[in-house]
Amino acid sequence: MLKAILEELLENQRPAKLSQSLLLITLAALLDTHDPLTSGHSRRIGTYSSLIARELGLSERIQSALRLAGLLHDIGKIGVRKAPLYKPDKLSDEEMDEMKRHVILGYEIIVEVPQLTTIAGIVLHHHERIDGSGYPHGLSGDEIPLGSRILCVADSFDAMVTSRLYRPTISVPKALEELEKCSNTQFDSEVVRVFGAYLRNKGFHLLGEAL
Ligand SMILES: [Fe+2]
Repeated sequence: MLKAILEELLENQRPAKLSQSLLLITLAALLDTHDPLTSGHSRRIGTYSSLIARELGLSERIQSALRLAGLLHDIGKIGVRKAPLYKPDKLSDEEMDEMKRHVILGYEIIVEVPQLTTIAGIVLHHHERIDGSGYPHGLSGDEIPLGSRILCVADSFDAMVTSRLYRPTISVPKALEELEKCSNTQFDSEVVRVFGAYLRNKGFHLLGEAL
């Protein structure tokens, strides 16, 4: 996957801009070190997001952009105090506010690369919810960039099926059920529909095949 991203970057960017993009990818890899509990999470989000984009009939260029957006989506966690990342209990309001800062910080890091302003916007809104109850801006429905709606589904799916310290893993069919239950409140129903159709078509064997 990194090879595909690098080829895309090499093709489209001048050397100075390329080195900025490579720096971001290095930072994303660093995030896995910062937060080993979610190691590999960003890579999988990129894979799922580009797969969903393809199933929605979006262009290869958008599929590549979403792969990169997935890789970078939580890069702002580098600037968040470490304690809330590891806390097994429910976060206090103050800790939750600290955690929520990661989308703003991520946006501020990525937007520094002029070619990546669209990706910065996608990252900024990846925790918005269709019903307007998400963050940071409480956007709803189509106000949320499509890329962010895709990332949100991919992110939540991976969080459910991947083992975490303080949450048991659930099966792929069960995770899909959860996504469908929250269609039109938390998630974009069309994004969930195409992802669900893909998973069912593949007999729920997504994880090994797509990565
Ligand atoms: Fe996030």
